[in-house]
Amino acid sequence: MRTKIFGGLVCLVAVAFIGLPAFAADDDDSKPKLTIKKVMGQAFKGKDPLVKKVAGGGASAEEAKKLHEMLVALSKNESPRADEEGNKESWKKMTAALVKASKGVVDGDEGAGEALSKAANCAACHKAHKPK
Ligand code: HEC
Repeated sequence: MRTKIFGGLVCLVAVAFIGLPAFAADDDDSKPKLTIKKVMGQAFKGKDPLVKKVAGGGASAEEAKKLHEMLVALSKNESPRADEEGNKESWKKMTAALVKASKGVVDGDEGAGEALSKAANCAACHKAHKPK
């Protein structure tokens, strides 16, 4: 009886491991598609960054969607300072606000651009999350 249960467990574990490579594929939703630096460079950096353009209402629907996808990727990253007290919660909150506001712009919600502009607070986020 005991060995039967044990054998069954071994089988389950083996199946779980065989299943792993499928989870490691590119379409794995739990893994960020872009690093924080990439998102910063492509959507935040510069004189007229994508995030400001979308927040200001001057972007196309295509651009708003692209930004939203980048911000989802941003939120799936871990803050470089995740080992600091309370850091994980703060990162979650700040990136969730960006994800929510950009989704609002995509959906045409009223006030979403303003919310996005507020959420894209460079100094507040860098103070808490950018490596010193
Ligand atoms: C939600 C948080 C957050 C917001 C908002 C944010 N940043 Fe960042 N930014 C980061 C983090 C974290 C890093 C450090 C990434 C690293 O070192 O891995 C960073 C790094 C950068 C970098 C350096 C990238 C590199 O290649 O080293 C630039 C440039 C930058 N941010 C610009 C901006 C600007 C401009 C804004 C506002 C318009 C902004 N960021 C808003 C989190 C944020």
